[in-house]
Amino acid sequence: QLVPMAEILEAADEEGYAVGGFNVNNLESLQAIVKAAEEENSPLILATSEGAISYMGIDHVVGMVEGFLKNTGLPAALHLDHGGSFEAAMRCIRKGWSSVMIDASKEPFEENIAQTKEVVKAAHSVGVSVEAELGKLVGTEDDVTVTEKEAAMTDPEEAAEFVERTGVDCLAVAIGTAHGVYKGEPDLDFERLEKINNNVDIPLVLHGASGVPSADVEKSIDLGIRKVNVNTAFQQAFTARVRELFDEDPDLYDPRKYCGPARDAMAEKVKEKIHTFGSQNKA
Ligand code: G3H
Ligand code: 13P
Ligand code: ZN
Repeated sequence: QLVPMAEILEAADEEGYAVGGFNVNNLESLQAIVKAAEEENSPLILATSEGAISYMGIDHVVGMVEGFLKNTGLPAALHLDHGGSFEAAMRCIRKGWSSVMIDASKEPFEENIAQTKEVVKAAHSVGVSVEAELGKLVGTEDDVTVTEKEAAMTDPEEAAEFVERTGVDCLAVAIGTAHGVYKGEPDLDFERLEKINNNVDIPLVLHGASGVPSADVEKSIDLGIRKVNVNTAFQQAFTARVRELFDEDPDLYDPRKYCGPARDAMAEKVKEKIHTFGSQNKA
């Protein structure tokens, strides 16, 4: 039922749209993402961080995802987000994930290549896709200087060598985005993205996209981004609704009475992102 993520991204590449890598953190987030994808007829990339997997329990993730996908005909990938080690990637593959990210972006270039190659070899032998990251996502905080930000960004020449030597299926790039809540306005380096896109012929991935204005996301899709990761914006949509409901009625105690509406608010945000990325009616 699950398909390798590479298949989903290949189709996106042919037509020039992107698919959301949407983080699943609990039952309600999975419900929201699947419901939105079904309503929009969009392919699905369900992303689980190591933290989210340990929060939910790995077998429960598998059980929930299987349960949801039984009733949907959408092409769907279950993807490990920011896998920190070979072991973490293998654990997910053994449990049925169809895609893994090995994120050794904090390591020196050669070490990043070595770790990525090891995962690619094992994953590809069982038909699982691999995402890797080159360049580091630094914060948008005031204490990060422009020079530090530049130095952390993906080097287009290195990107070509990295892809060639690792055989990875898609590459996460650092072009000025950051995870979490932005302190200032993101300032994306589109020239750099264009060079990277000219140098490599695999789909590119944009992390830390929650706080990036839609116009910038659209521009990055024009320049080869085929997967756009969103977590924070969904958490914010969910929690904002919970806060509203508690403000309206501080005596609420039944989780279904606040998680239900919060889940629906999150689903609306997921639909909005699907439209920005252009994956509606592409399933
Ligand atoms: O990029 C990371 C994702 O947003 C998930 O982060 O480790 O807080 O689950 P997490
Ligand atoms: P955000 O924190 O911007 O949602 O980033 C999500 C992400 O990159 C997950 O890998
Ligand atoms: Zn990320």
